[in-house]
Amino acid sequence: MKSIFLLIVSLMTGTESLTEVNACWEGWVEITSKYPHEEKIYDKVQVVSPANTIQSNQTGKWEKSDQFYLYHDTVQKYLRLIIQPFKSKDCGTYSLKFGQTTPAEKREVKIVEKNYCTTINQTAYRAAKTSIRCNYSDLDQSKIKFICKADNYTCKEILTTQLSKRSKGKFSLTDISSGFDLSIRQVSLNDAGVYWCGVKEKDDSYRAGITKIQLKVKSKSFASSVFQ
Ligand SMILES: *[C@@H]1O[C@H](CO)[C@@H](O)[C@H](O)[C@H]1NC(C)=O
Ligand SMILES: *[C@@H]1O[C@H](CO)[C@@H](O)[C@H](O)[C@H]1NC(C)=O
Ligand SMILES: *[C@@H]1O[C@H](CO)[C@@H](O)[C@H](O)[C@H]1NC(C)=O
Ligand SMILES: *[C@@H]1O[C@H](CO)[C@@H](O)[C@H](O)[C@H]1NC(C)=O
Repeated sequence: MKSIFLLIVSLMTGTESLTEVNACWEGWVEITSKYPHEEKIYDKVQVVSPANTIQSNQTGKWEKSDQFYLYHDTVQKYLRLIIQPFKSKDCGTYSLKFGQTTPAEKREVKIVEKNYCTTINQTAYRAAKTSIRCNYSDLDQSKIKFICKADNYTCKEILTTQLSKRSKGKFSLTDISSGFDLSIRQVSLNDAGVYWCGVKEKDDSYRAGITKIQLKVKSKSFASSVFQ
């Protein structure tokens, strides 16, 4: 009964409800909003942040404005915002606005700072196996967890606890009580880089990086690694 009432209220106001999400200091947060009306073409999309308004000027490519990254996809019909690195001053309510009508069609998200992100430096050896631990605090235990690899502005998901699938290529995920371990077999130089343990919504409308793992790959000076 209550949900029907809420549905009617949200239909009447015409805007999406305010969602509250977490981000941590020096981490990143990503908000994706689908078009409010899929059949429409929105030539003007913008993000109103607590400090300023960021207008998207291009489609199908990343645009950067200070710590904000915007991607307006007119084919998949969404607007994506990434804040990286996230700082205390970035807390507050963000509006992703579509079109020029007043009141604008929008999705509002309140971003709250949750403490700081953890950074881990790790070394792996070529041709060997390595394991990255994603250990989450109690605050995040109920959320969907994932691990991704940083690729320019975005972070490309490798595996997630959302799916029953626990391996992909050379990667496999093992659940532990406070999170999971990702193991990488046959480590190569391509595996070096920045990985993030993150949390997200099941529809990917919100993703955030919580723990940063800087993985270095070294060659072992043993004869056994020569054949890699
Ligand atoms: C879009 O263009 C305006 C005006 O040139 C500029 O101020 C703004 O920074 C641009 N937006 C982005 C995301 O680069
Ligand atoms: C990780 O390594 C970087 C340099 O590559 C260093 O600045 C940083 O302090 C190290 N962090 C930790 C937690 O050891
Ligand atoms: C995981 O983190 C918790 C605190 O959030 C800590 O008590 C525990 O020792 C950590 N476990 C591992 C295996 O790192
Ligand atoms: C990332 O940036 C590098 C150089 O800046 C570029 O060569 C590469 O194509 C970019 N990758 C993607 C996926 O855009």
